[in-house]
Amino acid sequence: MAQSATHEAPAANGQTKTATFRVFRGDANGGQTQEYTVPVESGMVVLDALHYIQNYQSPDLAVRWNCKAAKCGSCSGEVNGKPSLMCKTRLDHLDLSKPIDVQPMKTFPIIRDLVTDVSWNYEVNKTIQPFTPPDNNSKDWRYYQNDVDRPQEFRKCIECFLCQDVCHVLRNHNQKEHFYGPRWMIRLASLEMHPMDRADRIPFIKEKAGVGLCNITKCCTEVCPEEIKITDNAIIPLKERVVDRYYDPMMWFLRKLGFIR
Ligand code: SF4
Ligand code: F3S
Ligand code: FES
Repeated sequence: MAQSATHEAPAANGQTKTATFRVFRGDANGGQTQEYTVPVESGMVVLDALHYIQNYQSPDLAVRWNCKAAKCGSCSGEVNGKPSLMCKTRLDHLDLSKPIDVQPMKTFPIIRDLVTDVSWNYEVNKTIQPFTPPDNNSKDWRYYQNDVDRPQEFRKCIECFLCQDVCHVLRNHNQKEHFYGPRWMIRLASLEMHPMDRADRIPFIKEKAGVGLCNITKCCTEVCPEEIKITDNAIIPLKERVVDRYYDPMMWFLRKLGFIR
């Protein structure tokens, strides 16, 4: 996460292009942004700049990362106010004439510098009933490709929690007690849409997971690095299932008569 010693920076020639980074330094007790000047090379991403800062200027800068390939979901932060993977944010896509602001995710408690405590998400996950196959657990499961395609999109999630970070219900209104957030709507949808799953999670999705608190702003979909259509393909279908169960009079009548579950 943080390095142990500073190295001597390579000598710059007069032609070296530089960028200014304003990086948050601090912990749960507070902090401030610190300014760093970093030489820019072709193909650099924000995480490269943070590694340069760790190597040559502030070895104690804390930043979480693992793959540097936009696949592990560890390096989430906010670059110029936008929730982003720092290993996927290229410098040539930013306006380098102005300082680049790098902050930790705002929705989660800060540990140090750019590292936040996202453990609330794992606690939420534990409350979701896992995949529940039929009782007569036949090995011969056959279903249509269409039925596989729907939950397959949701399997791309890398648990970066950028969607959780941007969602105003969690970010601005701190409704963690009442709303699970888009990442967990994705998981619930993937289970609900699995052709072999037999659990009934609709009451849970309505009450505990709080799907009704999403007002479809679609900010989560905009920041998802895996381009999962979170709102259209997961949240809206879950809302529809809740409406069918609780608010559609015809469905209610058929259920009363025992024709549907
Ligand atoms: Fe990240 Fe997208 Fe998964 Fe949300 S749904 S945690 S933004 S990969
Ligand atoms: Fe939040 Fe996404 Fe709904 S940002 S309000 S979960 S559409
Ligand atoms: Fe793995 Fe960025 S370091 S997603």
